[in-house]
Amino acid sequence: MTLRSQDWYGGDGRDPYIHRAWMRRGIPGDAFDGKRPQIAIANTAGDLVPCNLHLNEVAQYVKNGVYEAGGIPLEIPVMGLGETLVKPTAMLWRNLAAMQVEEMLRANPVDAVVLLGGCDKTIPALLMGAASVDIPAVVVPGGPMLNGHFRGELMGCGTGVWQLSEEVRAGTLSEAEFERSETAMIRSKGHCNTMGTASTMGIMAEALGMTIPGLAGTPAADARLLEAAHATGRLAVELVAEQRTVSKVITKESFHNAIVALAAIGGSTNAVVHLLAIAGRLGIDLTLDDFDRIGANVPLLVNLQPAGEYLMEDLFRAGGVLAVFDQVKDLFDPSAQTVMGVPLTDFLGEHPVWDRDVISLREDPLQDDAGIAVLRGNLATRGAIIKPAAATAELLVHRGKAVVFDSIEDFHARIDDPDLDVDADSVLVLRGCGPKGYPGMPEVANLPLPPKLLKQGVRDMVRVCDGRMSGTAYGTVVLHVAPEAAAGGTLALVRDGDIISLDVPNRRIEVELSDEELAARRPPFRETGSFAHAERGWQKLYVEHVQGADTGADLDFLVGSSGSVVTRESH
Ligand code: FES
Ligand code: MG
Repeated sequence: MTLRSQDWYGGDGRDPYIHRAWMRRGIPGDAFDGKRPQIAIANTAGDLVPCNLHLNEVAQYVKNGVYEAGGIPLEIPVMGLGETLVKPTAMLWRNLAAMQVEEMLRANPVDAVVLLGGCDKTIPALLMGAASVDIPAVVVPGGPMLNGHFRGELMGCGTGVWQLSEEVRAGTLSEAEFERSETAMIRSKGHCNTMGTASTMGIMAEALGMTIPGLAGTPAADARLLEAAHATGRLAVELVAEQRTVSKVITKESFHNAIVALAAIGGSTNAVVHLLAIAGRLGIDLTLDDFDRIGANVPLLVNLQPAGEYLMEDLFRAGGVLAVFDQVKDLFDPSAQTVMGVPLTDFLGEHPVWDRDVISLREDPLQDDAGIAVLRGNLATRGAIIKPAAATAELLVHRGKAVVFDSIEDFHARIDDPDLDVDADSVLVLRGCGPKGYPGMPEVANLPLPPKLLKQGVRDMVRVCDGRMSGTAYGTVVLHVAPEAAAGGTLALVRDGDIISLDVPNRRIEVELSDEELAARRPPFRETGSFAHAERGWQKLYVEHVQGADTGADLDFLVGSSGSVVTRESH
């Protein structure tokens, strides 16, 4: 087999000379002899990506494994997406990071890639990029932080902030105590330790077959992560020999397994958008409705915050991801492959559950039906989603008067007003937060409740938004409403006092207005597309080309693959 990298290094003459000479600098000449695969390590670490900073150490262990197996490791930095830092939202750059990964893998002498991610958008971006090049690839999820504790209790990152900040707003926790909780919450390397987006996407990578089985969820501080990184380096060299490219591992059946896993772990709603986008890169026909259909009747087995009690370190202690997968083995598609060259289900069957408070047995689940529900109706003609497992059961069928906010700034300006016309039955509507409207589709859908209702003891209300919700948040929140308001969705036509009806068992979300009334309200209060004011740069490109949440919010011209064909020589 001729290695792809030999298009650069192979043969005599000026061009191979140039490619080798600039690379050598201490590397022996036979590193480029065509027998040693060139293994890229796409590293999303950076000082402004604190959840991924330890991936520099992980990369070293991957390199050790690559060298040991006879390959040449080559670390390539990937733009940093620190979820808590980058404004307006890290999601604005998921597609850019994916594009960077895709283009740099294609443009360089690379035969395979090891993808190092963790913080929310990084694993999706890496998988999207690698899928569009379709070379052999394998993921090392960076792993979660160790458990945090505050006031003698477990405190999960994200989830703890939402809870404590509500306490501050309700006047039951001091600002000083609130600040003290910061370092108690985050005490080690790694990504968020709740079942938020980062934890979810690491597990999704494993469910898709893209990791060494049993690796996802290994805490960032655990030595076994480094051991697995070493083993992954070895595996990457083997992947080249087998030409086990992304499209040979990830198939429609892999997404079936990912959706089952997503329900069983009670994973983040953000996984819906990311999995749709990854499928889009591979030309796999995955739809929003697949999530509802495949996820239906999958039991919730993992008792993790935000919906439950524990954190990722506990999940690992209780048997880890494979112990969960074992419980739902019969729901998995046995034909779905892994990077190991055998089906995922081959690795299942003998992983005991060591703590049944953390991982429930199949016969005694936390909930019988943990899937994500896909809602439709005149308010979301292309779909919206809700995670019933994180919602209040009594609110899953509800009618209430809309209280409408045109932006998150509008919401913050008015929500604390004691004269705001809102009660516990109201439905809070936030629009202008979709991919185009914001832009980037921020995690704002889990709106804080009005203080006057919090003081009355109200802890959840129905909320409807075209944005996303943090994977660490909870509540009866209808999100990812499509089409979004900025793309002409019905959400743009809703006015204060309109009755909104939610019926999750029947998968409906409606505004109780006739078609005539809705038509009479067009054009909406603001012209389509006028939400974002992107004049130049990436934001402009993004707003002009981003597609709806219902298909993964990828850019229209990035859907699909351009493969790994070596392009022109400039010398
Ligand atoms: Fe990085 Fe949560 S902020 S994973
Ligand atoms: Mg997040």
